[in-house]
Amino acid sequence: MTDRYAVFGNPIAHSKSPVIHAEFARQTGQDMAYEAILAPLDGFPAAVQAFREAGGKGANVTVPFKEQAFELAGRRTARAEAAGAVNTLKFEGDAILGDNTDGVGLVSDLTRNLGLVLASQRILLLGAGGAARGVVLPLLAEAPAGLFIANRTADKAVALAQRFVSSGPVEGGGFDALAGRQFDVVINATAASLAGELPPLPEGLFAPGALAYDMMYGKETPFLAFARAHGARVADGLGMLVEQAAEAFYLWRGVRPETAPVITLLRGA
Ligand code: ATR
Repeated sequence: MTDRYAVFGNPIAHSKSPVIHAEFARQTGQDMAYEAILAPLDGFPAAVQAFREAGGKGANVTVPFKEQAFELAGRRTARAEAAGAVNTLKFEGDAILGDNTDGVGLVSDLTRNLGLVLASQRILLLGAGGAARGVVLPLLAEAPAGLFIANRTADKAVALAQRFVSSGPVEGGGFDALAGRQFDVVINATAASLAGELPPLPEGLFAPGALAYDMMYGKETPFLAFARAHGARVADGLGMLVEQAAEAFYLWRGVRPETAPVITLLRGA
């Protein structure tokens, strides 16, 4: 019987996950179906429950349900615990395993697709919300020279950094703390791009040859335009989206799909 999977979100209509997983399934010969499900804002647990009862084997979870998915999972991976959010559920009989593949998705995109070596690099993470929190531990695991977390509300960045001090060289502060500092990799995990806004970044932020990465994808953001104008290489978050999906697929099916052809397919579409 065809195994069923889904992505839950609200909104969900424009999700690329069904196309990505259909490609992975085709490529690896897995007998599975994957659909997008719009869960009511006040009805996420019930929607997941109904899907399980209908035979669902696992799910991805996107905005705004990742924290609720964390609560729903009876067992969680270490990286889900660190992120405080779950983007992948695996249904194992009566049990629900919660994982978070966003951080490893970002690191895979940076290292495998974009060819970066993060060891000894100066990394700047912009933002201290859910999107930022999920990537701190996987970035520190790459042994950078330092990870600075900058946020509009400085206290949130300081608190986020504090949670991870035992895992590597991480500090937090406000955007004003960036004056006079240079970074090799700058990752935008703020919601500023969604609003077409640019975090207040100083001149001289990008070291020679630096990469600017926006977790958003689909259009040139003010952040990427700023980075390009200041001589940085730029990348959007489409590769991260495909890589986090591949990691979820691996958790469910035990098979690693190839991501490069899927990224190329989506770029062409
Ligand atoms: P997400 O889960 O997507 O990270 P979130 O938890 O609401 O969403 O966090 C949004 C992040 O974007 C925060 O770091 C927020 O900064 P504050 O903590 O100061 O609110 C940041 N953000 C949102 N709009 C921004 C803007 N226009 N400029 C700079 N940072 C912005």
